[in-house]
Amino acid sequence: MTSTPTLTDRNFDDLTDRFAKNIYGSAKGEVRLAIVWEHLLQTLPQLTAGEPLRILDAGCGLGQFGLKLAKLGHELVLNDLSEKMVTEAKALFEDGDCKATFLHKPVQELSAKDLGTFDLVLFHAVLEWVAEPESTLHHVSSLIRPEGHLSLMFYNKDALVFRNLIRGNWNKAESANLQGDEGGLTPYHPLSLDEVQNWLDHWNLKTLSRAGVRVIYDYMERRIRDKRPIEEIVRIELKYARHEPYLHLGRYLHLISKKS
Ligand SMILES: C[S@@+](CC[C@H](N)C(=O)[O-])C[C@H]1O[C@@H](n2cnc3c(N)ncnc32)[C@H](O)[C@@H]1O
Repeated sequence: MTSTPTLTDRNFDDLTDRFAKNIYGSAKGEVRLAIVWEHLLQTLPQLTAGEPLRILDAGCGLGQFGLKLAKLGHELVLNDLSEKMVTEAKALFEDGDCKATFLHKPVQELSAKDLGTFDLVLFHAVLEWVAEPESTLHHVSSLIRPEGHLSLMFYNKDALVFRNLIRGNWNKAESANLQGDEGGLTPYHPLSLDEVQNWLDHWNLKTLSRAGVRVIYDYMERRIRDKRPIEEIVRIELKYARHEPYLHLGRYLHLISKKS
């Protein structure tokens, strides 16, 4: 009898350099930072109101978002499953005079009992890399204080289907099997907006606002997009990110929700 191997959460120790180069060393990273940052500042004015908040950046990766928030005067806890990512994030914080704690452990091992709850929890591009997205996200939500907020970004299944459709990969698009294999670079669990929104509704997390990340860039022909300056790409993405129907086609979806 053969047994199915159990999927484990994706530790980025072996992907740190590729992630830094392929995502944050390119227009993709610039778009991601710009959209999510603007969306956060516009939806949560308390971020710039001068009162320090307690913020958790769960699955922080290289720590760029955490640093931007820490520079606004907020108290940050950054956590990642990958030791290498935590080391990189720490190094990023070295120059700034910011208040931050770094925890190298899976997010599932963080507890409100040990850490207290947070005014804001970031969970960006991690959900699609964990073996059990629903229970992990539910656990993450337990770390938010009542009336606190969740900033959730995840890999959008519908965008993946659409991209395969317009490239003529119809078998792939129509198959139920869109997830990547363990060890690969394609996320384990592309998720649909409806699916995630249902979970959030069920847990009394009311979505205040949504944005799409890379709603245009990913559909442009490479030879055309490579000629466009990054600032122009960012400008056009910012213009369409929060409007339908473009929003739904974002490679990632960014949701900001409030815990009631
Ligand atoms: C695609 S990166 C995203 C990093 C960062 N949040 C960003 O948006 O740039 C995914 C990160 O999730 C981390 N990760 C995966 N499973 C995790 C878990 N169970 N707990 C904490 N971090 C996890 C990986 O090690 C990796 O650094």
